[in-house]
Amino acid sequence: MTNLILFGPPGSGKGTQAAKLVEKYQLVHISTGDLFRYEMGNNTPLGQEAKRYIEKGELVPDEVTIGMLKNKVDANPDAKGFIFDGFPRTIAQAEALDKLLADMGTGVTALLALDVDDEEIIKRILLRGKTSGRADDNDEQIIRNRIEVYNKETSPVFDYYAQKGKAQKIPGIGSIDEIFERLCKAIDAAVAA
Ligand code: C5P
Ligand code: MG
Repeated sequence: MTNLILFGPPGSGKGTQAAKLVEKYQLVHISTGDLFRYEMGNNTPLGQEAKRYIEKGELVPDEVTIGMLKNKVDANPDAKGFIFDGFPRTIAQAEALDKLLADMGTGVTALLALDVDDEEIIKRILLRGKTSGRADDNDEQIIRNRIEVYNKETSPVFDYYAQKGKAQKIPGIGSIDEIFERLCKAIDAAVAA
């Protein structure tokens, strides 16, 4: 299997690039943020719980997110592999993912981190907020909190996979196609390794 983690701060282009990558590599895209938004849209108990955190730009508790992620992986037994987008967001989530994949006889192929600076991110998210309908994209305070949470809780996940020789940074500034080409090069090299 080829299992990719598309990593990077909010607004770094993970969702945009994941959509192109799944098409090229025939992998299953799992965006935990999209899954939460779907649950919130249907006002399910999971959605109601997630909303309490998401509207503040905080992380949903690990056990909730990990449980949802496992369900989604289990629902795709024939997948050639996965693109994880917005997950793992904490070291505990990374450890849970490694265990889940190890139990399936596989593992993380590569983590690709889209590198974009904070001011560019805030600009992009506010722009996206005009059409995304996401409350957490429309408030600069919430966006700044999401970036702070990313720096504190999520960025250590990069080092966790870097220690395993699996993480690399990809410049996330440029056209969508340029960034896509950079990602494809890195993925092809990781798959061949
Ligand atoms: O990945 P995305 O930016 O779409 O996630 C939106 C929000 O969902 C995050 O700001 C966070 O509140 C929540 N989330 C989370 N844990 C994850 C993924 C998303 O708490 N692993
Ligand atoms: Mg996204």
